[in-house]
Amino acid sequence: MSERTPAGVDMEKIVSLSRRRGFIFPSSEIYGGLSSCWDYGPLGVELKRNVKEAWWNAVVRERDDVVGIDASILMHPRVWEASGHLEGFSDPLRECRNCHQRWRADELKEDQCPDCGGGLTAARQFNLMFKTFMGPVEDEASTVYLRPETAQGMFVNFQNVLSTTRKRLPFGIAQIGKAFRNEITTGNFIFRSREFEIMEVEFFVKPGTDEKWFDYWLEERLNWHVKLGIKRENLRFREHDKEELSHYSRRTVDINYLFPMGWAELEGIANRGDFDLTQHEKFSGKEMTYFDDEAKEHITPCVVEPALGVDRTVLAFLCDAYDEEQDKDELRVVLRFHPDLAPFKVAVLPLSRREPLVKAATDIYADLRQHWMVAYDDAQSIGRRYRRQDEIGTPFCITIDFQSLEDNQVTIRERDSMNQIRVPIAELQKTLAAKLTGEDLFVLPEGGQVWKVEKE
Ligand code: GAP
Repeated sequence: MSERTPAGVDMEKIVSLSRRRGFIFPSSEIYGGLSSCWDYGPLGVELKRNVKEAWWNAVVRERDDVVGIDASILMHPRVWEASGHLEGFSDPLRECRNCHQRWRADELKEDQCPDCGGGLTAARQFNLMFKTFMGPVEDEASTVYLRPETAQGMFVNFQNVLSTTRKRLPFGIAQIGKAFRNEITTGNFIFRSREFEIMEVEFFVKPGTDEKWFDYWLEERLNWHVKLGIKRENLRFREHDKEELSHYSRRTVDINYLFPMGWAELEGIANRGDFDLTQHEKFSGKEMTYFDDEAKEHITPCVVEPALGVDRTVLAFLCDAYDEEQDKDELRVVLRFHPDLAPFKVAVLPLSRREPLVKAATDIYADLRQHWMVAYDDAQSIGRRYRRQDEIGTPFCITIDFQSLEDNQVTIRERDSMNQIRVPIAELQKTLAAKLTGEDLFVLPEGGQVWKVEKE
């Protein structure tokens, strides 16, 4: 039995659609899969790249106070001493004395193994960082860690960015990259895995202004999710209690999403104060301060950090876009993705495989591909093809029929309304561009032709 949220989204359906249509596959599937690791297929990789692009545009390219970096995954081991991860990045673990299954102590509801009812060991702290060795010798001196967050790459580059960009406070550094956590319990599809991607901004501000900037980022980040189509009622803030705060945090508020298994963290916004820069100054012996021109003194900036998992965000967008509706005798499954996120923006569908229709359709296909990811589908009935595109979230289908050869017009069919309009081929690219960016464009093209609007 799959669980349903009040919104009615079913995780099993999301997993099955993702597998069937090539969004997400289990990792190493031919060997039985690798627990909590996932591979993105041809559609999944487009969706994921679009999510990252939308975030990067919003936090880097459309702003003049944030710059990006791409730091290495392996970092000097002292980084993790300074950051507190070696000592404090752990979860309490209990093991079943009978079946040896391991559990996160803080997630257990009873004092016995949830699988076999066996007795449990006392809780011990289990560090979540993956270890490996640098070079051919496997000893303590060559131990390195796969980063559990991208944040430290930005802190250790603080002075590099400052001196090369001449940014003044407040300014941020953003990064998207892989992170690894040896989670004790995983699950809920791509919600919690051991290898995932994070998108983080470290926003450096003058001490005393951190609370104001914290509120700013809370609002900013919530709006980003809503702008890209997440229903506002499926998002809410959750403030961390004092006991729950990470070792570096003065304040943390999560943006929670109503996933199929219930409300859970989608993004975290933390006020890290001056913890990280102070620690790196102490451990590296290098100055990590900033010269404040107004106060004429060196200060250690505070940091506000919005951080979210790419994979978890992909899951939220999949769940929120998923819709089913009865259409005539069939159930229509639609992914109502925002056009910016949809893997394909347009599908070209010739009504027949006969010439000269194919030539007309392939010419349009070649033309549109210069602008967007475009699908081409000529198999089975037009109704079936519309359904296939609905199910993967393609916002617009272009149908080329024999009439097109005579009047040089094609039909644009909209995914959400299923409305159809006829447009001149010469206007097609411009029309789609306007529709994909949300401009309402049912303006008459030059020449005053009235477009026909039909219902499927
Ligand atoms: N630098 C701060 C930081 O890493 P976090 O709350 O531990 O904060 C940030 O992680 C985000 O990364 C979370 O809000 C969540 O979206 C995502 N995330 C964390 N652990 C994850 C996991 N095991 N699998 C997938 N996503 C994860």
